[in-house]
Amino acid sequence: MEAIHWKKFLIPYEHAVEELKVKFKSIRNELRTIGEYSPIEFVTGRVKKVSSILEKAKKLDVDPEDIAEKIEDIAGIRIMCQFVEDIHTVADYIRDRDGEDLEIVLEKDYINDFKDSGYRSYHVVVKYKIHTALGPKDILAEIQIRTLAMNFWAIIEHSLKYKYKERIPQHIEDRLKRAADAAFKLDQEMSEIRHEIRQAQKVFEIRSNIVSKILQNIQLLYLAGKVTEANAFQEHFNRLWDQGDTIELKALDKEISKFTEKYEAYE
Ligand code: GTP
Ligand code: MG
Repeated sequence: MEAIHWKKFLIPYEHAVEELKVKFKSIRNELRTIGEYSPIEFVTGRVKKVSSILEKAKKLDVDPEDIAEKIEDIAGIRIMCQFVEDIHTVADYIRDRDGEDLEIVLEKDYINDFKDSGYRSYHVVVKYKIHTALGPKDILAEIQIRTLAMNFWAIIEHSLKYKYKERIPQHIEDRLKRAADAAFKLDQEMSEIRHEIRQAQKVFEIRSNIVSKILQNIQLLYLAGKVTEANAFQEHFNRLWDQGDTIELKALDKEISKFTEKYEAYE
């Protein structure tokens, strides 16, 4: 068997990593530009080092000619999110593109089934077509989707593993487990806050809709010549507005709506 020309072998992987990075970064930029929340915080990518590819091939007992087919993470993309919920949004983006510009090969949910090490992330292995000088070529890429907390933990754990060459001392492993628990709790706390923010935004929207309906109806009454009633409703509204009571505003909205029904024709 011929020796692998590594530089040449890795070019399609570099190509795929660059393209996929651009694609996910664009989603983020697009959403930020229109002022929408982006479930993608930042994106990184890398091509596995030759030494790591060889180590993995040896560990998994993969023949050199099967490396492209059997090692799924030679091209690797990492998508970092603020909240665990965002991970599912990003996974949905990828699923939406299944059969379009990529093909999903498999998904691994290390969020619900975290690893014994404490590792959490959502992995999607995809087949991605690039266009080389010799024509189209499908390559495998591993997309890891994780929160900032999951990423922080994984990076530290990885560097410790590297330092200790896989034999991490027990007391450090114990600490890493506790750190993984803390990262998990942090994600949970953040999800709670996220929920509160969303809730507050919703309440604000409901209230502003009621207010605009009330004011429209008062306007309608003025136009219909019902000045006394319009003034009374306006005063009532001003009082409730000052007190900030949404439930009472809702009742007022109902009352005015009922009263103005007859004058709808003037609109
Ligand atoms: P390897 O874990 O690389 O042998 O690959 P695998 O075929 O077992 O796939 P798996 O889905 O388990 O892991 C793929 C990738 O996920 C790895 O290359 C790492 O980037 C990441 N990963 C998996 N487990 C861990 C872990 O315990 N700690 C850290 N830091 N990263 C992990
Ligand atoms: Mg593994």
